[in-house]
Amino acid sequence: MALRARTTLLLAALAGAAAALLLPGAVEAHVLLSLDDFGAVGDGIANDTHALVDAWKAACATGGHTYLNVPVGKSYQIWPVTLAGPCRDEINLLISGNIIAPESPEEWSDGDQGRWLHFRGVGDLSLSGGGIVDGRGQQWWAGTCEDENCTSHRQHEVAPMALHFEDCRDVSVKGITVQNAQRQHLAFTRCHGVEASYLRVTSPEHSPATVGVLVAGSTDVHIKHDLFSVGGDCVSIVGDSSDIKLKAISCGPGLGISIGGLSQNQSDHRIHKIKTDTMFIANTKNGLSIYENGRGFVRKVKFEHVMMRNVANPISIDQNRSASNRGTRRGTPNGSAAAVDRIKYIDIAGTSATERAVTFACSDAMPCRRLYLDGVSLKAAGGGSTSAYCYQAFGKHAGDVLPESCLGKEDFVQLQAPAAGTGDGEDDDW
Ligand SMILES: *[C@@H]1O[C@H](CO)[C@@H](O)[C@H](O)[C@H]1NC(C)=O
Ligand SMILES: *[C@@H]1O[C@H](CO)[C@@H](O)[C@H](O)[C@H]1NC(C)=O
Ligand SMILES: *[C@@H]1O[C@H](CO)[C@@H](O)[C@H](O)[C@H]1NC(C)=O
Ligand SMILES: *[C@@H]1O[C@H](CO)[C@@H](O)[C@H](O)[C@H]1NC(C)=O
Ligand SMILES: *[C@@H]1O[C@H](CO)[C@@H](O)[C@H](O)[C@H]1NC(C)=O
Repeated sequence: MALRARTTLLLAALAGAAAALLLPGAVEAHVLLSLDDFGAVGDGIANDTHALVDAWKAACATGGHTYLNVPVGKSYQIWPVTLAGPCRDEINLLISGNIIAPESPEEWSDGDQGRWLHFRGVGDLSLSGGGIVDGRGQQWWAGTCEDENCTSHRQHEVAPMALHFEDCRDVSVKGITVQNAQRQHLAFTRCHGVEASYLRVTSPEHSPATVGVLVAGSTDVHIKHDLFSVGGDCVSIVGDSSDIKLKAISCGPGLGISIGGLSQNQSDHRIHKIKTDTMFIANTKNGLSIYENGRGFVRKVKFEHVMMRNVANPISIDQNRSASNRGTRRGTPNGSAAAVDRIKYIDIAGTSATERAVTFACSDAMPCRRLYLDGVSLKAAGGGSTSAYCYQAFGKHAGDVLPESCLGKEDFVQLQAPAAGTGDGEDDDW
């Protein structure tokens, strides 16, 4: 029988290290692998990196539906590693137990910079299983220094991304906990087709730059039904990214949702078609922020149904970030020439920790255009009134808007033609 022969072959290929199971009536073999079959110890002390690498190689070389289980009730200590594709077929990594990082930054050699669990060039990959990925980043955070004069052995720029997916396609990360990342908890770089859902992502409030999810140069990304409680941004979207949807997100503490920002390598952001729907943001240093100091653009962003509680800077667009502290190193001195266009804020309610609840600080070179406020109600957390600040910010408002809108009326005579080549239709839902 062909199927039996195939199963036998698989078993032979895996040298008896794993069990292959043929479901009755199923056409395709399901290959079930366990990390322990590759010599992993799982006592939280041993070095299980080699076992993971071997298990990955076996899973990757196997056709059919392959499940690799990280068994429950155990802790596997894994050194920085790259798990590369392409693989023959889909891979399901079922993380039921714990995967933990070495605690000391000294365990990272120079070649490991920025990397802990690094997936590269993989398609059809899913991570699930209810377990925990723990970066144990405490020593990294302690070594962080933000100023130029950093004498620490490691700057936070090179601290690892805990789960990094690079050049990937159709990846889903679902129903696991990612905690105490050295820097980003999850990062998607140049990925297409991502779902990150039912995640619990946590680090202490005072862990510097521990971003929840970083989306960089990626498209078609859905982030939904997640909790982010971190020191840095809950979600940060940079680079050339489009078609990003956030839905049913709880965020805080941390720095809120950030779009654009100081790009890590001075390249421009080209960010468009971002939708966020249904968000609870509490006790963060920012709420919904768009930063641009390059020459790219941020356009077609819709923030809808957001409840804020005690959020400093609930709504902000800042093209002048370079002039303020964090941007001095790389920013353009006099505000950016990046286009910020068609940004909608619909049904945003709650409390601001600061008197100024809305800031639209745009630039002379490139005013912010077609901003839209509909049903905004941001009161001061401590009682009293809130205010809005606008500089070169134009658009419309509808419904009740508190603090009162300060947007200038669009003067179309002065408007420049939108930059060509973005592929955005005028008629869709923005
Ligand atoms: C753990 O194993 C990996 C892979 O074999 C190796 O690169 C790393 O150096 C090991 N770490 C220690 C501390 O032995
Ligand atoms: C920066 O480094 C210089 C040279 O080592 C030192 O003199 C100066 O005090 C340092 N500044 C700060 C703020 O640490
Ligand atoms: C900088 O960013 C651009 C665009 O995202 C990317 O293509 C390039 O490889 C990056 N360069 C470095 C040195 O990281
Ligand atoms: C830009 O930043 C500088 C320094 O923080 C500030 O003085 C200035 O008012 C800002 N400009 C706008 C338009 O907000
Ligand atoms: C920034 O503005 C100042 C004052 O208007 C001007 O002297 C300076 O040349 C500008 N710098 C740049 C890079 O445009």
